[in-house]
Amino acid sequence: MKLKHIISSKQFEKSFIRSIFEKADQIKSGRYNKNILAGRIMATLFYEPSTRTRFSFESAMQRLGGSVISTENAYQFSSAAKGETIEDTIRIVSSYSDVIVLRHDTLGASQVAASLSKVPVINAGDGNGEHPTQALLDLYTIFSKFKTPDFTVIMIGDLLNGRTIHSLSYLLSLYPKIKIIFVSPKALAIPKTLKSHLIATKIDFTETEDFDFALKKADVIYQTRIQKERFKTKNDYKKYFGRFIIDESTLQKIKPRSIIMHPLPRINEIAPSVDSDPRALYFQQAANGVYIRMALLLYLLGPKNQ
Ligand code: NCD
Repeated sequence: MKLKHIISSKQFEKSFIRSIFEKADQIKSGRYNKNILAGRIMATLFYEPSTRTRFSFESAMQRLGGSVISTENAYQFSSAAKGETIEDTIRIVSSYSDVIVLRHDTLGASQVAASLSKVPVINAGDGNGEHPTQALLDLYTIFSKFKTPDFTVIMIGDLLNGRTIHSLSYLLSLYPKIKIIFVSPKALAIPKTLKSHLIATKIDFTETEDFDFALKKADVIYQTRIQKERFKTKNDYKKYFGRFIIDESTLQKIKPRSIIMHPLPRINEIAPSVDSDPRALYFQQAANGVYIRMALLLYLLGPKNQ
């Protein structure tokens, strides 16, 4: 069944993922019609800060010949500042555009938006919920190095609030041979709903605070930042900040063929001295965002069989 909205990684089936990745490969090699979405309009409505997600979506739309209307600080620059509800904003913007890319601070906001919108809604991050298009580009990056889905992924950081962690975990759970090791302070462990899902899908996963143990086992090292904006007080945040850091000493401990990823932005979790190591893939990962988002826009808006 064709998806109308992209809200959660739980919507994705293997066949869908395969077709998006094939399309992304084709786009990456330059084989695509640069005007295929001419006359179509994408609205990007961002209520939380973003660099990669918004720019890569906008770049993707424009590379396909479409155009963009945008508000990058919607609480300040849209009618939200006057007190308009997200519901009303979505009703209006969906009559001005052919697809809406929404980032919001409230969990479930894109689900609400999808229920009101006349056009497809793409969840570009809903609070501490999900970030499904990030998960697709993450998996695409992983598969560019590991061709068969039989490896160990370690995810590090604020696993409770990190929406990229949630979406990537749901996606990985489609592949029964993949093992996951979650590394976090106990208070920032994965949410219960995700844990129940992983148990139900019988994925081999472990939760630990032992960073070194996990690093030695890892094929994919997925580092994330502590999600400062989700903490009630600065002190709460400070308790966890700087706990798990990847630096030059880490490079001695990890497998020679492992890869280091990060959805970015990084604060201090990966030292800049790691960037030149061939295993550091995070900038390539961010670049892949454009190809994946082009493939997704074609899927949602392109002519049939695209
Ligand atoms: C992430 C996000 O916004 O969830 N960034 C991104 O989209 N690449 C990760 C983060 O902010 O920590």
